[in-house]
Amino acid sequence: MTFSRAIKIAPSILAADFANFGAECAAVEDAGADWVHIDVMDGHFVPNITFGPATCAAIRPHIRGVMDVHLMIAPVDPYIEGFAKAGADIITAHIEAGPHIHRTLQAIRATGAKAGLAINPGTGLDGVENLLEMIDLVCVMTVNPGFGGQKFIDMSDKVRRLRALIGGRSIHIEIDGGITPETAPLMARAGADVLVAGSAVFKGGSATDPAPYGRNIRAIREAAEAETGTLT
Ligand code: DX5
Ligand code: ZN
Repeated sequence: MTFSRAIKIAPSILAADFANFGAECAAVEDAGADWVHIDVMDGHFVPNITFGPATCAAIRPHIRGVMDVHLMIAPVDPYIEGFAKAGADIITAHIEAGPHIHRTLQAIRATGAKAGLAINPGTGLDGVENLLEMIDLVCVMTVNPGFGGQKFIDMSDKVRRLRALIGGRSIHIEIDGGITPETAPLMARAGADVLVAGSAVFKGGSATDPAPYGRNIRAIREAAEAETGTLT
């Protein structure tokens, strides 16, 4: 993975057909997705349950590019190796998931995966500052984690301050929750480069009728790129 601040669209398979993950991942990549975002939920850290390392390992061969694994679980540490072995390129843990996020990020990097740090809407940037040398991505949540299809919570100011904090470091700013062609430009303008979108990518299509996926991804990308001046 070479670092770039170009806009990347990362469809969340939380909004895909759960009986058809392999074909859904291939379909969104063919439709122009840059990364595939995998939402892991444990029914404890968040009030919903999705899937674990075995499912990630099963879908890995169906993803050509970046497999971006967002862990909404607590504790995190006992499962890091499992997700790394499943083939995650990026493993993101929440700062709110436990008292020892520094240890968790060390453990993620020790597997060879990139380390991501997710922060909930109610969490500030205080704790992030001391972790900048050990992360490859900050995931700014624009919904309270647990469910797809929720209303976007504007975190423009937080993203702007985070972008300034990051400076010249090779750290992605990822936005997760409620991203649509309407909200994507706000986040791109504030400094985000990875836009996760579940509902807004998968709506209207299926693995056997993937044309809407392509239109949906293009609409988000064009709206975001119009803000960053990289529209070609
Ligand atoms: C929320 C998840 C998100 C979410 C995105 O807990 O981390 O990835 O599913 O879905 P939409 O785009 O539908 O808000
Ligand atoms: Zn997510």
